[in-house]
Amino acid sequence: MSGASRDTAVQEKKGGSHTLSPSQLYAAMGTELNQMKESKTYKYEVPIESDQAGVVMVDGKLSVMLASNNYLGLANHKWIRGAASAGLSQYGYGMASVRFLCGTQKIHLELEDRIAKFLGVEAAILHSSCFAANDAFFTALLSSDYGQADYRDVIYSDQLNHASIIDGIRLARQATKTTDLVAYKHNDLQELEKALEDNKSKGYRVSVIVTDGVFSMEGEIADLARYVSLAKKYGALLMVDDSHATGVLGKTGRGTPEHCGVHGQIDVITGTLGKALGGASGGFIAGKKELIDFMRQKSRPYTFSNTVPSSIVCASLESFKILEEDHGLVEKLQSNAAFFRQEIKKLGFKIIEGVHPIVPVMVGEAATAQDMSDQLLAEGVYVRGLWFPVVPKGEARLRCQISAAHTKGDLEHALDAFNRVGKKLGVIS
Ligand SMILES: Cc1ncc(COP(=O)(O)O)c(C=O)c1O
Repeated sequence: MSGASRDTAVQEKKGGSHTLSPSQLYAAMGTELNQMKESKTYKYEVPIESDQAGVVMVDGKLSVMLASNNYLGLANHKWIRGAASAGLSQYGYGMASVRFLCGTQKIHLELEDRIAKFLGVEAAILHSSCFAANDAFFTALLSSDYGQADYRDVIYSDQLNHASIIDGIRLARQATKTTDLVAYKHNDLQELEKALEDNKSKGYRVSVIVTDGVFSMEGEIADLARYVSLAKKYGALLMVDDSHATGVLGKTGRGTPEHCGVHGQIDVITGTLGKALGGASGGFIAGKKELIDFMRQKSRPYTFSNTVPSSIVCASLESFKILEEDHGLVEKLQSNAAFFRQEIKKLGFKIIEGVHPIVPVMVGEAATAQDMSDQLLAEGVYVRGLWFPVVPKGEARLRCQISAAHTKGDLEHALDAFNRVGKKLGVIS
């Protein structure tokens, strides 16, 4: 889920401050939780009784899963399960250590090398998640003086970048006090270029441009070819979070850079092992050898948090093997996404156009999105609604996420249900 204007943490200040006892604090929390429920921003969890798959079990009933990031269907794939079990048998359950003490096995190095090669860069470093990687990156990068006494740095960040990028930038600005931020309008590369141009005279020491490769609320793809040329023109480091694209976009699943024809030209790529690449957990930063070595010394989440478990490492290695051997999963995912996009439009639904397997079906008001997702679940389709403040007012949507694990029959079942429920609620005629 993306971040900036979607951040609701700002509270209205009422009166002066006074000490809260723990019980008063819990009572105040209860009040805020009730407010969230009333304003429909409280996040409810719908438990699944099966493994993650194209079709899952919910409340004793089978449902087509349209809400997961299990793009390639690897989350319960027999080869991935096999690799994870073999990893567990051979390397054990845990390492009980961070990487630099005694938490590095050869397989960790092998996976880092595999990630780098797949993405067309020199090196990669694992983190416990992509959230941790993004949170770590900016502070690790900008906390050194690099031999300069008096300097300022600047980060250019799309306003709708993922929450972990926003938090990473906040942390770096607080920790360094020498980092400026330009949060440009979503996907507005003209505004970005103007800011880069305006700042030329300011003599910034390091400039970083950062964008999501794919924006998850919309399934929109960043124009990385233009980003690459802007970064080159203005001497900036380009960082792309490709969490929703590695294994998803591009002919061979190498992500947004491959889709945009700039594979191997991105300075820094961050990503997750928790979506297309197996769906468990783990994240990485990939880029030049020096940068990655530097991160190994400077990233605090890397230094002070446990190593990625061996079973996940082995399963992730298997997921890259599957992609490299090309078993047709990327093609299946892309053709499933194209089929669903085409058919849902034929039913009369409005979607955000594109090619990504995230297909936002626009329904207007929050209440309609809520009713629709409840009724779809009753019809055996698991899909979640998004509404304000996560997306702009009046643009509530059901975010469908298509997977290579879906059969044509699964997608047709979902489309039939959308047709019935959409008509009942007056979203389509
Ligand atoms: C763009 C983006 N970056 C980072 C993350 C976080 O990934 P992880 O689950 O590995 O922390 C997500 C997950 O929602 C994401 O969508």
